[in-house]
Amino acid sequence: MRDLYLDDPVRLRETDSSDMLGAIYGLPDQLPAALAYTRTQGVRLGTEGLLQIVITGLGGSAAGGDLLRGYAAAACKVPIFVNRQYELPAFVGPATCVIAVSYSGNTEETLAAYEEARARGAQTVVITGGGELLRRAERDSVPHVVVPTGLQPRAALGYLFVPALLLLADSGLIPEVDEELSETVEVLHRLRGLLAPDTPTAHNPAKQIACHLHGKIPVIHSTAGLTEAAAYRWKTQINENANSPAYAHVYPELNHNEIVGFDVPGAALELIRVITLRARDLHPRIGKRIEITTQELLGPCNGVEVRAEGESPLAQLFSLLYVGEYLSAYLGLSYGIDPTPVQKIEQLKRRLAEG
Ligand code: PA5
Repeated sequence: MRDLYLDDPVRLRETDSSDMLGAIYGLPDQLPAALAYTRTQGVRLGTEGLLQIVITGLGGSAAGGDLLRGYAAAACKVPIFVNRQYELPAFVGPATCVIAVSYSGNTEETLAAYEEARARGAQTVVITGGGELLRRAERDSVPHVVVPTGLQPRAALGYLFVPALLLLADSGLIPEVDEELSETVEVLHRLRGLLAPDTPTAHNPAKQIACHLHGKIPVIHSTAGLTEAAAYRWKTQINENANSPAYAHVYPELNHNEIVGFDVPGAALELIRVITLRARDLHPRIGKRIEITTQELLGPCNGVEVRAEGESPLAQLFSLLYVGEYLSAYLGLSYGIDPTPVQKIEQLKRRLAEG
């Protein structure tokens, strides 16, 4: 395995100057903290006549919505949609609950969607760290959960996800989640012993995958539902923490188009490495598809498989995404990149603010 200085604590600390690794280490602890403050703040959803839930947000603040949809869709009494734009879908009206999520509270698309939800008479709830969204929620007497600030939005995943999860569970839209949350925290605590910077590359799967992906374009394959939400999170974390392109696609759909692309002549394929994320209980035909695809169809692009840990769906989901949190930071650090800054996002927001 190449030495990418991932076992050199001084170098890691110097490059990771804003301590993204510390924030990732803290993710398991966000879950019980968020459970406590969400219950204390006592926000509830009204379920009478409710037909749909729309979670509206962007980037790091939409990620919790993806996880919620991936986790809860199978059990939720109403459909869950994630909206990532200024406008809301046409069906949104008084029978819809719109949960507007923005860590900064200043994301213009989310503010526009919030206003539209109010104008259409939807039940509206806000999850935010502050900013303009909090100001408007207070002004409009809209129920809101205020989350701890001081992190990058993507590093506040637990703080943003758990309130949305509890809104559904505590209103009876999905079965109660306390036990699954406890198991998730246990699994994450165990995993971080393995994935954290102190564990050398020889025993650390996240560092090993970072070495495997160094100099390559990661493509993350997953199956619909839980692992799809984790895979998209891997993609966006690799984008933001490693400043690298990354792409995600899902079984069985990728068997109907993407696999044909792994035949392109020339050097392009040398750049691609596929990581497959796998939940525990797969549809048997999906298991067969993964086997044939990885062993026979991806050729040299086939990389490694990452298997979910834990029993409950929530623990499995978080176990998969937690490897991606660490891997993405290590990949950035292997390039000598500080994983925290997102200069291009800030540059774009500044330019848009000019009018
Ligand atoms: O990672 C990031 O900084 C972005 O993806 C932000 O989350 C995104 O731009 C939206 O901002 P906010 O999360 O503050 O609403």
